[in-house]
Amino acid sequence: MKGKKVKESKEDTGIQAIPLNANASGNVHGGDILKWIDSVAGVVAQRHCGEYAHQVATAVIDSVQFLSPAHIGDLIILKASLNYTGRTSMEIGVRVEIENLRTGEKKHTSSAYLTFVAMDKNGRPVPIPPIIPITKTEKRRYEEGKKRSDDRKANRKIKTKK
Ligand SMILES: CC(C)(COP(=O)(O)OP(=O)(O)OC[C@H]1O[C@@H](n2cnc3c(N)ncnc32)[C@H](O)[C@@H]1OP(=O)(O)O)[C@@H](O)C(=O)NCCC(=O)NCCS
Repeated sequence: MKGKKVKESKEDTGIQAIPLNANASGNVHGGDILKWIDSVAGVVAQRHCGEYAHQVATAVIDSVQFLSPAHIGDLIILKASLNYTGRTSMEIGVRVEIENLRTGEKKHTSSAYLTFVAMDKNGRPVPIPPIIPITKTEKRRYEEGKKRSDDRKANRKIKTKK
């Protein structure tokens, strides 16, 4: 199967938080941000797999921190790209920034790593195109993603044995 470059699947998007996204304190609900992270990562995963996958599913979301609160009216900027591919699974990294549209100030609030699995029509995992990391950053992310993927697999085996 022919490999694909990181730039072929990356996605940058922005969502303006509206009152519907508020939590009880009036700030943006963390769960809404998680949903946007999952959605944008899913776009990257499906775009990378193209016709090789009928669908992609979130298998794992690594721990996510919220370093700064987002307010209603802020632009939530999500930058997502592929870090690593296994045989049927892939890791996508998402960086989240908050932009105050009045002042132009931007703050990094979260970074997340998600593992997606490519599936056929019957929900069975299917092989995906290998990633082609080109730039220095892409190569570093690939190596770090591979290490995290190996750790997750080892962790999964320990849990399954119990
Ligand atoms: C994700 C899912 C398809 C994996 O099914 P499975 O039968 O465990 O598949 P396999 O054991 O063949 O693993 C498939 C790939 O996923 C990876 N994987 C599956 N679970 C994983 C986990 N918990 N951690 C890390 N990798 C995992 C495997 O390592 C393998 O990767 P590789 O082919 O690149 O080496 C299945 O667990 C599922 O359908 N989960 C529900 C997904 C879903 O509905 N998500 C939406 C949110 S609820």
